[in-house]
Amino acid sequence: MLSFPSFLEDLLLRYIKQTYLPIKGASGKPFNDKDFVFFSKGAKALSEAYTSQRGSLPTNYLNIPVYRSGYLLYFLPVNFLKIVHIMNELDPAEIVGGKVRILDVGAGQGTSMLGLMAFYAGLLAEKKVKDAWLDFTLVDQSYAALKDALNLHQAYAEELQKKNGGFRSACSVKNYDLRRGGLKRFLRNFKYHLIVVANVLNEIPDREARVQFIESLLEDHLEPATGRLILIEPAAQQTSRDLQWIRDRIVTDRKIGHVYAPCLHQETCPLNVVNKRDWCHFYFSWERPKFVEKVDRLIGNKKNWLACSYLVLGKKPPGLTPHPGPLPQGERGQMRWRVISNRMPSNGKEEVVLCGPKGRYHVELLDRDTMPSNRAFHRIGRGDLVDIDVRSEGAKYRVDGKYRVQKNDPVRIVKEN
Ligand SMILES: C[S@@+](CC[C@H](N)C(=O)[O-])C[C@H]1O[C@@H](n2cnc3c(N)ncnc32)[C@H](O)[C@@H]1O
Repeated sequence: MLSFPSFLEDLLLRYIKQTYLPIKGASGKPFNDKDFVFFSKGAKALSEAYTSQRGSLPTNYLNIPVYRSGYLLYFLPVNFLKIVHIMNELDPAEIVGGKVRILDVGAGQGTSMLGLMAFYAGLLAEKKVKDAWLDFTLVDQSYAALKDALNLHQAYAEELQKKNGGFRSACSVKNYDLRRGGLKRFLRNFKYHLIVVANVLNEIPDREARVQFIESLLEDHLEPATGRLILIEPAAQQTSRDLQWIRDRIVTDRKIGHVYAPCLHQETCPLNVVNKRDWCHFYFSWERPKFVEKVDRLIGNKKNWLACSYLVLGKKPPGLTPHPGPLPQGERGQMRWRVISNRMPSNGKEEVVLCGPKGRYHVELLDRDTMPSNRAFHRIGRGDLVDIDVRSEGAKYRVDGKYRVQKNDPVRIVKEN
């Protein structure tokens, strides 16, 4: 289960108080209950604006200190772990070590940067890479937000470097409004191993403009062989369906990129075909820190889960086993799937919706057919990777297939969400 690093918690709370508390002399003292009440106001205003009244925010809202401090206290910790979770999904063999060039567009106060620093520090600690020299370029319209990112980067990099001699990190920022055009005018043809666009696309009003923006990142700035472009959006229906639409434009219509996750295939997204209602989104589990719980109580939220929709794109087609664990030998026709629904119990059975190279399937298991070989079905959760032999008629890709798991069908959870 993901947890927020305690060093970062201390750093954030100290930084928020020192930087944003208007009362002189109090900023050196520990973060107390009064501070939670004071700084939660910005978090509450942002939360309301993000969920229901997006239009109420000024264009460059992170220039306003109350929003910046609210974002740092509440949204940064929540979004930080989303990138960590998504990086954990990538095939370890494909993760670039050594010198890693990272571009974060709409970086804000450096949420994803801090997440990637923690992720690489973890790889070093587990000896999965020998060294990690991270080289970040952050782009945002708000210079004030970028300044926070620079300050947090310096403090976190010093700490991680102290812990592990193989860790290095540098950060440069560019204050730029994406509405002025693509990044080529100052990035030239510079290529990156990782490009992150997190919680930004929904701030670009036009769907086609978003596609063009992603296309230019893929074409002009992503390292062709190993590069990964990570898009993260809120889990809401509209933002997730927008992301599905961008996926199909890039992957199936224009064929200028390939999808690595969460999809296990390069076909049209079945949710774009079946109806205008369903949306692909996930809930990552985390150990909600006490300080987030406090803010939740003050603003009337409950961030028990890290909800988001996401896409990992690359230029090269994924290998044969882009996802963990080989398909079991000798089980003919076994198929790997991503679970895209919650488990739905009803009278005498449970049902899940699966998405994979065969398309989208509603798959059910009757209680009376539960056997040791398929018992794992009753533990399946949204986002898991599972192997289930869905025997459909013919090899046709179905956007709305149905299958009932049989008594002797093996069911295996390959990776829990
Ligand atoms: C919701 S915040 C996300 C920040 C960060 N990526 C994260 O996930 O925490 C959206 C960010 O996009 C930036 N942004 C929005 N529109 C932009 C534009 N036209 N040009 C540059 N940055 C923009 C905002 O300033 C803000 O920092």
